[in-house]
Amino acid sequence: MGKGAPPLPRASVKEVCLITISKNRGKVNRRENLNEIMRIKTLRVKNFRNYAEEEFSFGDGLNVIRGANAQGKTNAAEAVFLLCTGYSPRATKDNQLVKRGEERAEIACRAESRYGEISIEMEISRSEKKSVKINGTPILRLGELPGNVYSVFFNPNELKLVKESPEDRRRFMNISLSQMSRNYLFSLNRYNKILQQRNNLLKESDRLLVRETLPVWDAEFSKYAAKIILLRNEFLKMLAPLAEEAHACLSGGKEKLTMASESGYYGTEAEVADAVKEDLKTAFEKDIRLGFTTVGPHRDDMKLFLDGEDVRLYGSQGQQRTVALALKMAETEIFKARSGEYPVLVLDDVLSELDKVRQRRLLKKTDGIQTIVTCTHAEKSVFGSLPCKKMTVVSGKLKKSSSVD
Ligand SMILES: Nc1ncnc2c1ncn2[C@@H]1O[C@H](COP(=O)(O)OP(=O)(O)OP(=O)(O)O)[C@@H](O)[C@H]1O
Ligand SMILES: [Mg+2]
Repeated sequence: MGKGAPPLPRASVKEVCLITISKNRGKVNRRENLNEIMRIKTLRVKNFRNYAEEEFSFGDGLNVIRGANAQGKTNAAEAVFLLCTGYSPRATKDNQLVKRGEERAEIACRAESRYGEISIEMEISRSEKKSVKINGTPILRLGELPGNVYSVFFNPNELKLVKESPEDRRRFMNISLSQMSRNYLFSLNRYNKILQQRNNLLKESDRLLVRETLPVWDAEFSKYAAKIILLRNEFLKMLAPLAEEAHACLSGGKEKLTMASESGYYGTEAEVADAVKEDLKTAFEKDIRLGFTTVGPHRDDMKLFLDGEDVRLYGSQGQQRTVALALKMAETEIFKARSGEYPVLVLDDVLSELDKVRQRRLLKKTDGIQTIVTCTHAEKSVFGSLPCKKMTVVSGKLKKSSSVD
C-alpha cells in the first residue's frame, strides 16, 4: 500500500498488514488531525498502588504529570499502559498493583480514536486473575485487550532494551507486535506453551519416548515459530529505517544507527516452518543433552550498532538511552503507518536523563501525538511556552491547580 492510501478499517487492523510509510510523513502539521491520534481522555484509579481514588483528565496533546519523588507519577503512567496493553511495565505480580491493605484495585479509562469512544475497565485482585470490560462488556481473555488503544511506554528502565539481554529486546517486539496483531499474540501464546512442553519432554529420562514424541511437537512448534519469525522480520524491516531517522533527529545526526536481526529465516511461512523443523532435527542431540530447545524465535536477538559499533558493548549511557528512545519513537511511527493513528505515548521520567538539547528534540518529535510525560519539578523549564496540560501529584492525589497552559 503506498502513499496516500486510505486508512485501514478497524477490523483489518487486528491482523498484521504492515504498510510502507509515506515519505511525506511529518511534513504536514499533524496536530490538525485528531483522526490520526488515539487519545486517553480520562483515567480513573481506585486502590491502585498509592492511589485511593483519583481521576485524571488528559488533553489531546502534551500532558505533564509533575511531582516530587515517590508521589505517584510512575504509578499513573503505569495504569495508562496497563489499560492499553494488559502489561505492566514494572510489576511482576498483580498484588504489587493493589494498594497496601486493600483486596482489589480498579482502573479505568475513556479513550477516543477515529472509530469513536471506547471505555476500558480493569479489576485487579490479589487472589484472582485480572478482569477487563471493554465498553461495558467483559472480555473472555486478556489477549483481547491489546489493539484497542495503542500505547508506547518509555521509562529509564527501558534502557534494558539496549543494554541487557536478548530477552529484553524480544519483550519489546512481543509487546509491540501483540498490540498490532491478534495473530501474533495467539501464535506467541501457542508457541510458548509448546516450547514449555517440548522442554519438559527433553528432560524426560526415557530416551525412546522422547524420540518418538518429539516429531509431533516439532510440527506444531515450527508452524507457530514461522508465524512469529515472519511477523518479526516484517516489523524489524520497518523499524530499522524509522529508528535510524528518529535517532538522527534526537542526536543531531552525528552517528548512524543500524540494526541487524539474528533470526536468519526468510521465505514463505511453509519454507520457514520447514527450515525450523530441519534445524530442530540437527539440534536434536544437543537439545537432549542440554534439556532445553536451542532453536527458534525464543532465541532471536536484534543487534544495534552506532557507526558500526555494537551499542550494547561500546555505547555510553547517553548513547544507549538515545538509541532506546529512537526505537520507541520508531515504534510510534509503525503504529501510525499500520493503523492510521498515533498511539498514546507515555514518557515516564525520561527528561531528567537527557541534556537540554535532546529534551527539546524529543518533545518536538512528540508534536501531534498524545503524550503523557512525567517529571519532577526540576525539568519544568523544558516545557517553556509549549502548549501542554500540567498536573501535579502529591502523595497519590492530584493537586487541584492543574492547568492548561
Ligand atoms: N501496592 C502499593 N500500595 C501502596 N503504595 C505503593 C504500592 N506500590 C507502590 N507504592 C508507593 O507509591 C509511591 C509512588 O511511587 P511512584 O513510582 O509512582 O513514584 P514517582 O512519583 O514516580 O517517583 P519518582 O520521581 O521517584 O520516580 C511509592 O512511595 C511507592 O512506595
Ligand atoms: Mg517515577
